[in-house]
Amino acid sequence: MRSSAVLILLVAARASASAAPSLSTLSLSSFPLPSPLSPTHPGASSSSSPSTPLSRLPPTLLPQSLSPSMPSTSNLASLSSSRSNNSPPSVLPTTTSIRVLTEPGPSGIPIIPYTFAAFPSPSSEPPIQGVYPASSPKLPPPVEIPALAPDFALAWTRAHQKAKAKIESWSLEEKVNITTGVGWENGRCVGNIAPIGDFPGLCLEDAPLGVRFADFATVFPAAINAASTWKRSLLRARGVAMGKEHVGKGVNIALGPMMNIGRVAQGGRNWEGFGADPFLAGVGAYETILGMQSAGVQACAKHYIDSEQENQRKVESSNIDDRTRHEIYVAPFLRSVMAGLASVMCSFNLVNGTYACENNNTLNGILKNELGFQGFVMSDWHAQHSTMSAMTGLDMTMPGDIFFFSNTTYFGTNLTAYVQNGTIPEARVDDMATRILASWYLLGQDSPNYPKTNFNAFLPLDEATNEHVDVQDNHGELVREIDRSSVVLLKNVNDALPLKKPRKLVLIGSDAAPAHIAGPNEFSDQGGVDGVLTIGWGSGTAWFTYKISPYEAFQARARIDHTSFSWFFDDFNLVGAATAAVEQDVAIVFLQSDSGEGYITVDGNVGDRNNLTAWLNGDALVQAVASQNNNTVVVVNSVGPLILEPWIDHPNVTAVVWAGLEGAETGNALVDVIYGAVNPSGRLPYTIAKSPQDYPAQLALGGNGEEILNITYLEGLFVDYRHFDAANITPRFEFGFGMSYTEFEYSDLNLVPVEYIGEGQDGQLEANWLAGKPGPQGVGSSTALWLHRPAFTVSFTIQNTAHVAGTEIPQVYLHFPVGAGEPPSVLRGFTDVELQPGEEKSVSVTLSRYDLSVWDVRSQSWMRALGTYSLSVGASSRDFRLKGTLSL
Ligand code: NOJ
Repeated sequence: MRSSAVLILLVAARASASAAPSLSTLSLSSFPLPSPLSPTHPGASSSSSPSTPLSRLPPTLLPQSLSPSMPSTSNLASLSSSRSNNSPPSVLPTTTSIRVLTEPGPSGIPIIPYTFAAFPSPSSEPPIQGVYPASSPKLPPPVEIPALAPDFALAWTRAHQKAKAKIESWSLEEKVNITTGVGWENGRCVGNIAPIGDFPGLCLEDAPLGVRFADFATVFPAAINAASTWKRSLLRARGVAMGKEHVGKGVNIALGPMMNIGRVAQGGRNWEGFGADPFLAGVGAYETILGMQSAGVQACAKHYIDSEQENQRKVESSNIDDRTRHEIYVAPFLRSVMAGLASVMCSFNLVNGTYACENNNTLNGILKNELGFQGFVMSDWHAQHSTMSAMTGLDMTMPGDIFFFSNTTYFGTNLTAYVQNGTIPEARVDDMATRILASWYLLGQDSPNYPKTNFNAFLPLDEATNEHVDVQDNHGELVREIDRSSVVLLKNVNDALPLKKPRKLVLIGSDAAPAHIAGPNEFSDQGGVDGVLTIGWGSGTAWFTYKISPYEAFQARARIDHTSFSWFFDDFNLVGAATAAVEQDVAIVFLQSDSGEGYITVDGNVGDRNNLTAWLNGDALVQAVASQNNNTVVVVNSVGPLILEPWIDHPNVTAVVWAGLEGAETGNALVDVIYGAVNPSGRLPYTIAKSPQDYPAQLALGGNGEEILNITYLEGLFVDYRHFDAANITPRFEFGFGMSYTEFEYSDLNLVPVEYIGEGQDGQLEANWLAGKPGPQGVGSSTALWLHRPAFTVSFTIQNTAHVAGTEIPQVYLHFPVGAGEPPSVLRGFTDVELQPGEEKSVSVTLSRYDLSVWDVRSQSWMRALGTYSLSVGASSRDFRLKGTLSL
């Protein structure tokens, strides 16, 4: 972030360069040969590579309505005049001649000479005192004051200065080397940059929930569970602990968090992210990154962007309008950049017909220009398609080879040759190397004390390269705390829970058990099912050092009360399960539903879930048990929404506990909640529908791996609960829902504008915004302070009106003026309030101008809507307790 004064200057500078072409807007209408082109006719690259099947070509152009900023031609000359807004001026063709190279890649980017001017690094002007403290990522603002956003401008400026000084003595080859991974399995980590002189190189390692392929590390709850706590403090603490473990193992860049929105309920990797709302996902990303980076590891926000399903993920084009992209899918990345994010991973898919890793609009235009991102962009593993992607914003290729073990690379010698022949300016390579080094300096990883990599992801049994460093500390306690805060109580008839010293208790279903064959790491990357489900499968996993199953934890707890404890783990023996439930005081049935990354198929599910029903005969199991026991409690371990209709209204199903994916401490945490040591406070981070068809978007099936599968995001802004509200569909359990063992009352809503008028340009920008005028454009325009500073304080009182202590999660939903084109309600704030019986507290949440804005496609800026804004405060997206109107 930077001050608006500087922003204005940048806008002016940008305006003078507005004749720049926008590569983002090119369709992949051809895969140009690396032959010399007429420099005066840059769009002439229309020949197709003979080696490239035409069937792989993306669509020529999307309908104009899908992307208003998209021009109707791929001719660069016309692009430059048709789209001066939002076009980074840093990519300018020149007229020098070029040579033929060997690895151009299947790209739509014309292979012509370009010039390049780096995006400016941020201002070092003093921050606004008391509101935006100048911050180093090592000292983020306290989590208790979410409105106290940090200003990393100075830290970035210093990091860029050091990086620039460092590369001054580097040769072109050395600068290229820092952009080029060493190739798959050529180093100890899943991604590696080789040492250069006294620069020690980089270790890049998954994952979003712990250090992948490392022993003596912690498996944290999946991000989807961290999100369902709705507690910033736990999101931050989880980030800190994960960051420390990565640092302890000598990882430089941790490949998370992942922040794709769960657009499709069946999406295989939804569990790696923070749920189906951009505000919630934004908070999840922001706090996780602040936490991770405070511990010293570089975070990596992934997958940028619009990668929402596994089916055909490498050949699907997510076709989406500019407003929806900004308001829904960019939102968590914007918050990530505000957290001082070091790196971004571009995704496999195409975005409106152009691969995400060579998309000038999303990389240069949105990420580096609008958001003012100062770190570097790496490709997802083999998601790069050309050397020319350097010009559209890609800074680092991972893992470096073009495909596994290919011994070729799009960067490396090819990038060097493209610089030597004048196609790619050396200034751009300088910028790539500077960005990578700046992120390293930003986190202080140049310190001689930064741990060396001490594990080997690919050879875990090699004693020479594995020091087996124990990085777990007491993180198991934090895992248990997050777990129990993430549990969502969905049904509780007649206070069935918490349990009150049952005489006889039975656990039913294999999901209550430990893996019965080979321990918690039985399947590679967790690609299989045996015992309790605690994370999904794929690269977002880590090895369990231990895992406490429900069976172990409940048996230990039952001993305290001298409860008779039994179990039945055969999911398909319904008679046996029903019989086991007879005469028990309570029967707890465990269900699961799994998904993961598409390179592994489990039980016919190729990453994405084939359906939204319980795995392992789960529905029949509940029905069989409930037929015999009138106190049947159901625990669900699921990667995402499930259809619960077959049994949810069964009178003998007295309680439903949504456990999600809890990582290593699942059994202990469930005991804590089910026995009442902890009062549940988790809230759903997505909607549980009555029917799969009720969701606004479905998995796009088909595709043959060759042709582009076009997926048009027809639902636009109406993702998850926004659609249910707009279409008046009653869900089974709405977004934000969760019960407690106590009750809360809300009162005294107050909506007060924040008494602060920005000085100078900021004041003018605020006045313009209020008058409904477009905002500025330029580097960092979407993360500027005036836009994100608190503008309204929403305050109210909450009282615990029953007899046990508990935590309430009050949620603030904004209702935009009619005509703004927004969904009926959108989440814009939440907090967590712990209350003793009878206790009341006053609570306040702030809203920024950004929170009150829509993305205006015409002006390419954030604007207020004209008309009356109102908001509701309540316990879920449908349980509003207080309503008020904002006076803007
Ligand atoms: C591919 C996955 O999409 C990405 O999330 C992961 O970080 C890399 N593989 C490295 O494992």
